[in-house]
Amino acid sequence: MADVWYVGVDQVPESLAVLLDGRDRARRRQILPAADRNRFLAAWVLVRLVLGEKLGRDPAALRFDRTCTHCGAPGHGKPVVEAGAPGLDFSLSHVGGLAAVAVSDRAVGLDVEDSTAGEQPPASALTERERAACGSYADFARLWTRKEAVLKAVGRGLAIHPQRIEVLGSTLRALPEELGRPADYSLSDLPLPAPYVGSLAVLGPEGAPSVRSGTDLVGDAARVLSSSFRRPRIHR
Ligand SMILES: CC(C)(COP(=O)(O)OP(=O)(O)OC[C@H]1O[C@@H](n2cnc3c(N)ncnc32)[C@H](O)[C@@H]1OP(=O)(O)O)[C@@H](O)C(=O)NCCC(=O)NCCS
Repeated sequence: MADVWYVGVDQVPESLAVLLDGRDRARRRQILPAADRNRFLAAWVLVRLVLGEKLGRDPAALRFDRTCTHCGAPGHGKPVVEAGAPGLDFSLSHVGGLAAVAVSDRAVGLDVEDSTAGEQPPASALTERERAACGSYADFARLWTRKEAVLKAVGRGLAIHPQRIEVLGSTLRALPEELGRPADYSLSDLPLPAPYVGSLAVLGPEGAPSVRSGTDLVGDAARVLSSSFRRPRIHR
């Protein structure tokens, strides 16, 4: 079964940046708006805490590879844990004030969106039948998370035009042949705090995923870290 964790960006203190590695920090430095930098921090701290717990490893020692499995380029592939457990997959998404991560023992894709972030559904992302079913931006946001979750599960992202994937209601109806058959995937809508909506795609049959707040996970990590910094040093 897949596990999903989410956290508010403002719940992750800057002190937890010590969990990031050199590559994460270099990426973070290149992000310009401070809000986006904080969102990156929240997402990758959550990823490290969740995967560290799952794998029984030090969250700060985890390394990630972003090589694209499609074209071999080093930077835009779906991130995977280096030397992780066989079959373990994860997917992360961050938008506005929320970051979320999904972990599964099968290929998994997660997308979250802010259902109030726009006014008109952007027609170019949807098939004709999807457009007819989308009355509002909130309808679009929900539908979009279902489509993007599939694209993220297969590690291709928007390199595949979203009109090549069709979701009607919560059912995947069509996708490019190279990605298999619609029946190969399970889609689930996620209960997230408003105004956020999110969906999960898993390759294979899947029940409802467990969805949890990561507030305690983050709070505990911050407390452990601050108490270890306060511990008096023993001079020899
Ligand atoms: C994957 C993608 C759809 C996510 O975009 P988004 O909706 O703006 O952002 P989200 O917050 O939902 O997800 C971002 C996370 O997706 C993950 N991600 C990046 N590339 C991914 C991919 N190919 N597949 C799955 N997940 C991917 C990353 O963890 C990223 O977070 P990070 O930038 O902090 O590391 C988008 O980044 C994309 O299409 N990338 C292009 C991939 C590409 O060029 N492929 C070419 C194949 S030849």
